[in-house]
Amino acid sequence: MKKNLINEALSLPHEKKPRHIGIIMDGNGRWAKKRGLPRLAGHKAGAENFKRIGEYLIDHNIEVSTFYAFSTENWKRPKDEVENIMSLLVDYLEEWMTMRKDKNMHFRFIGDRVAFSPRIRELMDKVEEASAHYPNVLNLALNYGSRDELCRAYELLMKEGKTSVSPEDIARHLYTADQPDVDLVIRTGGEMRLSNFLLYQSAYAEFYFTDKLWPDFSKEDIDDAILYFAHRERRFGGVIERNP
Ligand code: IPE
Ligand code: IPE
Ligand code: MG
Repeated sequence: MKKNLINEALSLPHEKKPRHIGIIMDGNGRWAKKRGLPRLAGHKAGAENFKRIGEYLIDHNIEVSTFYAFSTENWKRPKDEVENIMSLLVDYLEEWMTMRKDKNMHFRFIGDRVAFSPRIRELMDKVEEASAHYPNVLNLALNYGSRDELCRAYELLMKEGKTSVSPEDIARHLYTADQPDVDLVIRTGGEMRLSNFLLYQSAYAEFYFTDKLWPDFSKEDIDDAILYFAHRERRFGGVIERNP
């Protein structure tokens, strides 16, 4: 995108921007492979880019951002790759605790934490608590899968003794309970699929797919996605009346 359009995206009126953006950060492995590097190098570059893009979403004043970092299916990967991702996660959380800056977001970790080590779970609690005063929310999806999330919601509803269930009942038992639905889903890496990401919350989302691999996805690409969103006509099943 050309430089002069950057301001166009940043200066869009707030109501034209998505309230909630979901990002499927895909393509780290291929980014590394293209450079003849191990997959870990791709995950490292991906983690750096996550920091950059997260900060930039604050400039855009996006209310909620959800970053898909590790799915319930990603445990299938080779043991050393999973271990590498877990140690990057510990490094990231520790760094956040020691280096946190003014420009930041309220972290929420969404997904089933039971699978993580006590150290990671402790860090997640600390980061959530220490960031709670920031106004913009950043959900980091870790061991997250929509199907798991929905099963968990139904189990909670059964425990409440519900015999009939409304869409609102389900929504209030999701990890994103108090947050707006997803308005815009961005997926890097060229695949056009959700891979178990926010299935329920993205019922009326707009989709922005790009071939760019996640470590190459830039602030200008975020501007591009937000401008794309601003030009969509959202009907939510209704009809938009126009003057003849
Ligand atoms: C996304 O990048 C990161 C995770 C799923 C953890 P990938 O590791 O899936 O990268 P590709 O798709 O193999 O290139
Ligand atoms: C989706 O990417 C999950 C994350 C980005 C965390 P995958 O690489 O796991 O998805 P598939 O396997 O291509 O569907
Ligand atoms: Mg992938």
